[in-house]
Amino acid sequence: MPDNIVLIGFMGVGKGRTARTLAELTDRFAIDTDDMIESMVKMKIRKIFAKHGESAFRQLEQRTADWLEASVSGTVVSTGGGFFMVNNIQRTGRVIYLHSTVESIISAIKNHPKAEKKIKKRPLLQDLDKAKELYEKRLPLYRQAADHEVVVEGRKIREVAEQIIDLSGL
Ligand code: S3P
Repeated sequence: MPDNIVLIGFMGVGKGRTARTLAELTDRFAIDTDDMIESMVKMKIRKIFAKHGESAFRQLEQRTADWLEASVSGTVVSTGGGFFMVNNIQRTGRVIYLHSTVESIISAIKNHPKAEKKIKKRPLLQDLDKAKELYEKRLPLYRQAADHEVVVEGRKIREVAEQIIDLSGL
């Protein structure tokens, strides 16, 4: 199995920020699966969903996971909120689930200075009631997919990153 740290969790939980801090602390590179996909097809996520549908996006996630498994090692990987559903998530690296309550996630997004932009770019956040349902449905699945769970709510990113380092034996 590649020696990557793979962060999974719901939209807005802070996977990207945590990955960048982890990378800084461990002298690794951080990459993000949504960024990989956007550069692979030269299209924003929102546009991929609108033009080709969610299932086309999920196929791109699977291609990204296959590439991670085959070719990427020693890297911190932040993922889109649904990436954990790829069929080889466990073979992409050590999988860490970042946990927060849905109330805290939604209030953080709503109160963010760039709230409008943050919501606009995420097709599955357009209806917040539906997003809550999705969270409830996914929660046990995130836990099933992960090697470790780390609570992020009310904690500093650095503290979270340090816990991940301890858990992964980096
Ligand atoms: C998605 C989460 C998004 C992005 C896409 C679908 C999901 O990533 O991959 O909009 O299914 O939860 P973030 O978790 O970075 O927002």
